[in-house]
Amino acid sequence: MNVLTFDSNEKLNETGANIIVGLVQTNPRAVLGLATGGTPVGVYEQVVNDFKQGLVSFKQATSFNLDEYVGLDAGHPESYRSYMKHHLFDHIDLPAERAYIPNGNASNLEEECARYDERIAAAGQIDLQLLGLGHNGHIGFNEPAHALIRGTHVVDLAQETLQANARFFNNIDEVPKQALTMGVGTILKAKMILLIVRGADKAEIVHRALTGPITTDVPASLLQTHPHLVVLLDREAGRLM
Ligand code: GLP
Repeated sequence: MNVLTFDSNEKLNETGANIIVGLVQTNPRAVLGLATGGTPVGVYEQVVNDFKQGLVSFKQATSFNLDEYVGLDAGHPESYRSYMKHHLFDHIDLPAERAYIPNGNASNLEEECARYDERIAAAGQIDLQLLGLGHNGHIGFNEPAHALIRGTHVVDLAQETLQANARFFNNIDEVPKQALTMGVGTILKAKMILLIVRGADKAEIVHRALTGPITTDVPASLLQTHPHLVVLLDREAGRLM
């Protein structure tokens, strides 16, 4: 595991973007695993800058997003589809038909999950999986549990997650109670994992996840077993490392 701590958010964003852009420059057909949330926004901004400067093309790349809420219209401003369009997809040349996000409005969610896993399998291995970290140690929407699920599945969101994500909605009651998420097995199969964590409120959980026992109570702790994990932290999140 390679943990890098940054004093400047700009440098952190540049480093994250360089890893993503560098991969696609050397492997134009790269399969990217993408994340949402507040954490990657600045990294996506930098990726878009690099694209606009002509440094990279995503024409041959493929992406799979980690997760999506259940029951929000794809056009809802807080759907992860809208988020990805707003922060990345509308500004780069990644073909829409190869920018996959699970469909949280599918009439049969189990079938949608199985279909999503088949698509990931058909694309081969995810080359780079970008991850943020939930306050309770979740990755994607894999919440702390006695057992974690390998593939894409429907998940009931933890109260803590509903609270954390309420800031994006008018109130907590509007936050969808369920989501579809890639499983931890799929995440761990990626060739490389790029975990980004920011903020003093995540210092304790990032420390537990990366240095504490490997336990399904802290899903991110399973990342310790990954052979190629890069962690980018801002100074506040890295305070206890
Ligand atoms: C969200 C997402 C995760 C994200 C995490 C942290 O609910 N499902 O993929 O990494 O929680 O979010 P943020 O970056 O906004 O703190």
